[in-house]
Amino acid sequence: MNRIAVLTSGGDAPGMNAAVRAVVRKAIFEEFEVAGIFNGYQGLIEGKVELLQLGSVGDIIQRGGTMLRSARSVEFRTPEGREKALQQLELHGIEGVVVIGGDGSFRGALELTKLGIPCVGVPATIDNDIQGTDFTIGFDTALNTVIDSIDKIRDTASSHERTFIVEVMGRDAGDLALWAGLAGGAETILIPEEKYEVPAIIERLKNGSGRGKKHSIIIVAEGVMPASELADILKREANIDTHISVLGHIQRGGSPSARDRVIASQFGARAVELLKEGRGGVAVGMKNNGIVEYDIKDDEGSTNDWKAEMYTLSKELSI
Ligand code: F6P
Repeated sequence: MNRIAVLTSGGDAPGMNAAVRAVVRKAIFEEFEVAGIFNGYQGLIEGKVELLQLGSVGDIIQRGGTMLRSARSVEFRTPEGREKALQQLELHGIEGVVVIGGDGSFRGALELTKLGIPCVGVPATIDNDIQGTDFTIGFDTALNTVIDSIDKIRDTASSHERTFIVEVMGRDAGDLALWAGLAGGAETILIPEEKYEVPAIIERLKNGSGRGKKHSIIIVAEGVMPASELADILKREANIDTHISVLGHIQRGGSPSARDRVIASQFGARAVELLKEGRGGVAVGMKNNGIVEYDIKDDEGSTNDWKAEMYTLSKELSI
């Protein structure tokens, strides 16, 4: 293998740049040529490919977003789109690809591997929803962004004795909401992985105010329902007034935390080693603080069983 490539795909995540840097520098260290594919799989289909040098990835380790830019390609999901992508890889002499992204991006990596170009996945998404790794690049930074916001909301909630509903991202996963809720001391956390009962939420709110609590923070993962819907339910069912705060894409931006930079560097470098070993259809990740690799599966999804325990703990501590 002489030439490999790297792309970022799907929703961007802080630390993607650090991973791109690690891939490029490790590849050059291993005496590969390395190309950057811009705008994800869509850019690949369109031939947006450029050779990168050591200096191409200078001064990016601390930057949010991705210098390679990202996209969610509808065309790549079709056999015709993938055929075009394959032709571009052949045209540019690319023999292996590091795909930095989330589960959708990994499925694309698996498809390309099946077509004969080995691809290795590097998990990067604020959702932390990739089976096979305890942590994805970007989760830690996004979590800290959410905590920072919750702390600020708590200041004003306390001053005005209000109940706030904070909606956080995560798609179908509740990791961001759960970790932020536990770290931010939220009174109630709603995540898609755990059933919720409206009467129980109301009872918690009433018990809290009965014991003299002056304010309350409810974290709702976007995969459960929009904050506005929950606000309507609480008003309708118990005449409880709430304020809502939808954090939105602010969670995807910002300079990556030290932890995200470190795991991005480790994951990126290991991905290159795997390509060097001729491996494809695999991804790197972290389990019990060690760097691991695992097969990419077609039915990738979030199955972290520690969520139930954390959820119970958050309830016990936020009484
Ligand atoms: O997967 C990352 C993520 O930010 C999800 O949490 C969210 O549901 C989605 O992407 C939003 O996607 P977009 O930026 O395309 O609207």
